[in-house]
Amino acid sequence: MNKQLRRKMQIFQKSYSQFLKIEGEHQISGHIHISGSKNASLVLMAASLLSEESIEIENVPELTDIDVMEQILLSLGAKVVRNLNSIRISTRFVNPSSNKLSDELVKSLRASFFCIGPLLARFGKVKIPFPGGCDIGSRPLDELIRGLKLLGANVSIQNKYISAKIENSNKRLKGTNVKFNCKSVGATKTIIMASVLAQGKTIIENAAQEPEIEDLIIMLNKMGAKILGKGTQVISIEGVDRLTGCSHKVIPDRIEAGTFLIASAITGCPLTISPIISEHIDSVLLKLKECGCLIEKNGRSIIITPSKNIISVDIKTESFPGFPTDLQAPFMALMTISKGTAKIEETIFENRMQHVQELRRMGAQIELIENIAWIKGVKHLKGALIKGSDLRSTAALVLGSLVAKGTSKLKGLHHLDRGYEKFEHKLVGIGAHISRNNPEERMLVNETSQS
Ligand code: EPU
Repeated sequence: MNKQLRRKMQIFQKSYSQFLKIEGEHQISGHIHISGSKNASLVLMAASLLSEESIEIENVPELTDIDVMEQILLSLGAKVVRNLNSIRISTRFVNPSSNKLSDELVKSLRASFFCIGPLLARFGKVKIPFPGGCDIGSRPLDELIRGLKLLGANVSIQNKYISAKIENSNKRLKGTNVKFNCKSVGATKTIIMASVLAQGKTIIENAAQEPEIEDLIIMLNKMGAKILGKGTQVISIEGVDRLTGCSHKVIPDRIEAGTFLIASAITGCPLTISPIISEHIDSVLLKLKECGCLIEKNGRSIIITPSKNIISVDIKTESFPGFPTDLQAPFMALMTISKGTAKIEETIFENRMQHVQELRRMGAQIELIENIAWIKGVKHLKGALIKGSDLRSTAALVLGSLVAKGTSKLKGLHHLDRGYEKFEHKLVGIGAHISRNNPEERMLVNETSQS
């Protein structure tokens, strides 16, 4: 691990004991710059394993999840050079036989599992620790494993490791039809990456349609892959013999964009956000309009003018183009101060309601039955000592704190730092009153992010 990366990981360890002090009821206004997508960057980094030539990815956010993925690539023998938000990856000397992925790395980042597809396709065999469940659910991998088997891989699970091997003499997977039983972002990305170097044609049916999958397809096609059907439920991949290097710019982070739009709505203060591909968040814009917010699209910018009286609206999370599960918690924070009662149903992950008890601590009136929450809007939230338990629930608690009466102390910042680039700095830049309890370390984060 290089010095800069080691320093970042130490700072990340410290974020476990840090908290944010957030003074509520301050006006915010201005413009927020939206960073590159975390979930697109992570899979694009894994996809770099498919070619011996170097891959240059721009607009990669500075996040601890990205640091961990960098560490995984380094541990496999890749060369990684990062400069601000650009990353150059050369995987020429990667050797999965001699460099095994550590349990610790894979467990700390589920997206590390994306490496299984590229490693199998390029090297003919792979052994990777089973990532297990996580804070938001059990997250099985059955569909993904079934897809790899259909492509001809011999897959076995032993002692918490998944081994996949191509047994045929030419060491190439064989194109086939893969029809998923459920829409899975991870399974779709994995089967696309596994089949780009396969012999013959693969058709994926019931593919997930998330924009991050489209971004992956665009980058793979730049590398010489032959993939059709991006953005649709049927993806066709004509296998090629090899892939080349390329340069690619990551799409803006639609979840970060949605989080800041909700920050505007909850505080009742207008904001402009850019860059954003507005079609990526149409379902969220629709719900914000139903709440009474005015939304104006202007090229790659969105201007939101919120209503002073947010109206309760129901949401049900769905795979894209439906309302994203990653914005369910932030939207619930908004509903806590709305007029009326909102019903929020989480259908993607079975354990993604942990923000409910923390929002209740702030005075929210929420009834929770399994994965359905009924939120009766209250006049005010109040500042409290609260703790985020996953990435999006921690962001939701920041949003609640922005509008609460009094000061909140928020723990769980290691979650926030995984997925929102300079979150509190962006909010402070538009007028929020937020500080970390350990200013020296925060300065260090800024320094390293500039290096
Ligand atoms: N599922 C199965 N079998 C499988 C795969 C998935 O049953 O083989 C189930 C999962 O258990 C879950 C549902 O299908 O209930 C959806 O899972 P999916 O595979 O779509 O999600 P993922 O790939 O594990 C990605 C994002 C998540 C985001 C979801 C849904 C990355 C690194 N992660 O996860 O992002 O919530 O898609 O959009 O891309 C986040 O950023 O905070 C985050 C959790």
